[in-house]
Order: sequence, then C-alpha cells, then structure tokens
Amino acid sequence: MKLKLILAFAAAASFAAPVLADGKTLYMEKTCVACHGKDAKKPLTPEYPKLAGQNAKYAENQMKDIKSGARANGNTAAMKGVMHLVTDEEIKELAKYLSEIK
Ligand code: HEC
Repeated sequence: MKLKLILAFAAAASFAAPVLADGKTLYMEKTCVACHGKDAKKPLTPEYPKLAGQNAKYAENQMKDIKSGARANGNTAAMKGVMHLVTDEEIKELAKYLSEIK
C-alpha cells in the first residue's frame, strides 16, 4: 500500500512542470564553477573572466551570444562547449545570480 502511494507520487511529480533551479544551484550544477571559480571570483586561469558583480543584462547577452556563436573571440570556444546545458531561462537566472554576488 505504502509503495503504491510512493509510486503514485513519483509518477505525479515527474509530470509536473519542471521547476527552474535558482542561479547559484545552476552555477554549481552546470559546470560554470569549474572555469569561473567559487563565487565567480577566482577563475581557472587568469585569462578567464571574473563574473561576480557583473551587470545582469550584459552577462545574459554575452552568454546568449557565446551560445549562438555571435560572440566568438578570445577563449569563447572553451565556454561554448557547455552552453547546450543551459536554456534561455536558466541563462537569465544565472545572470541575475552573478550580478548579485558582492
Ligand atoms: C570550460 C570553461 C568554461 C565554462 C564551463 C563556462 N565558462 Fe563562461 N567563459 C569562459 C571563458 C574562457 C570566457 C571568456 C571568453 C572570451 O575570452 O571571450 C567566458 C565568458 C563568460 C561570460 C562573459 C563574461 C564577460 O565579461 O563578457 C559569462 C557571463 C560567463 N562566461 C558565464 C558562464 C556561466 C554562467 C557558465 C555556466 C553555464 C559558464 N560561463 C561556463 C569559460 C567557461
């Protein structure tokens, strides 16, 4: 009986609309932290940008441009490889998170 209830709940949950994770969770889970570092302050190499405190709209546009290929300069190729992991909504959430880091 209990198991049936759990299964019913699991089935219901999997049909529910996907919940958008918050920016910090996305930052940790979508590999951003690997290159841009803890709290977006200490990048993997000095040539990679620090993102903490960046203007949200600017960061959002840069991410979209890197994803689409409109921005293809410097080391963008390194980042383009992971941008299939994030949707436009997630990019917006990430940009908001980055802009709020003090
Ligand atoms: C494999 C390494 C790597 C990963 C993973 C990565 N990035 Fe980047 N990112 C870069 C590099 C390198 C640049 C700078 C590219 C250049 O030189 O033009 C960059 C640029 C950016 C910029 C633009 C910065 C600016 O000042 O214009 C933003 C915003 C950004 N990354 C956010 C993210 C987010 C959010 C994630 C996770 C979804 C992520 N990056 C994942 C390497 C990475």
